[in-house]
Amino acid sequence: MLESFSHLIAPVGKGELASGLHGHGRMAEPEDLLQRINEFFLTAQSLSGKKVLITAGPTYEAIDPVRFIGNFSTGKMGTALATVFRDRGAKVTLVAGPMSAEPPSGIEVINVVSAQEMYDACMQHFSDCDIAVLAAAVADYRPDTTATQKIKKQHNEMNIQLTQTTDILKSLGELKRDNQILVGFALETTDEESNAKQKLISKKADFIVLNSLRDEGAGFGGNTNKITIFGKDRSSKAFERKSKAAVAADIVNTITAIP
Ligand code: CTP
Repeated sequence: MLESFSHLIAPVGKGELASGLHGHGRMAEPEDLLQRINEFFLTAQSLSGKKVLITAGPTYEAIDPVRFIGNFSTGKMGTALATVFRDRGAKVTLVAGPMSAEPPSGIEVINVVSAQEMYDACMQHFSDCDIAVLAAAVADYRPDTTATQKIKKQHNEMNIQLTQTTDILKSLGELKRDNQILVGFALETTDEESNAKQKLISKKADFIVLNSLRDEGAGFGGNTNKITIFGKDRSSKAFERKSKAAVAADIVNTITAIP
């Protein structure tokens, strides 16, 4: 909660406590506190003048006026990223699907519903941005047609013909200039590393942030995430499970090359 308001929290230390017991609860070591304070002043306003495009949340693909195909994304990771970029002085445009997370203040928010609307908004803003981070869980398929009236229950079985949506990350990868940084996510359940590296190449991204649903505390909905970041320079950096606010800071530090 406090982290979502941009407060920095230094975790307590572990060891002997004043009570004589052992465990979590010691004051953090002064060196650790000093390092965090240094980091804070090093990064404050470090992205001033930069324009950042972020996508977040799910997309809904309408079947009829009352039903859709969607997914469980809440938009928490994308809004955490928007907060970190804003706090470092960047001008942030958040293209938000129908998500439950509340976007931070002080940024531009473009609300969209479908993958096509998200694509259109990204195409409009991409050429102007320095960094784009596509954290949205875009629906891969949409119904061929959207019924104009509510579909009535008729038969035991029902089929909906689906068509692939446009891959926004891949489209931006084709347009990307050398002075732009393009970052995608990969949410995987099997063959995580090879799938993530494959996406890095096929979508021409500079970085792919992998989260595996096999890792406890990763993925949709929760307040934590566990990620590995793969770079097109073949670098890879694995992080511990952390709050989404801390994960967002790790992503921003890595893609803007702050050690
Ligand atoms: N993505 C996108 N547009 C789509 C689908 C995905 O921009 N139509 C982006 C996501 O925002 C994410 C990355 O592509 O940054 C990878 O998304 P993911 O769902 O993991 O991969 P897909 O390419 O959809 O492949 P698959 O579902 O087969 O794993």
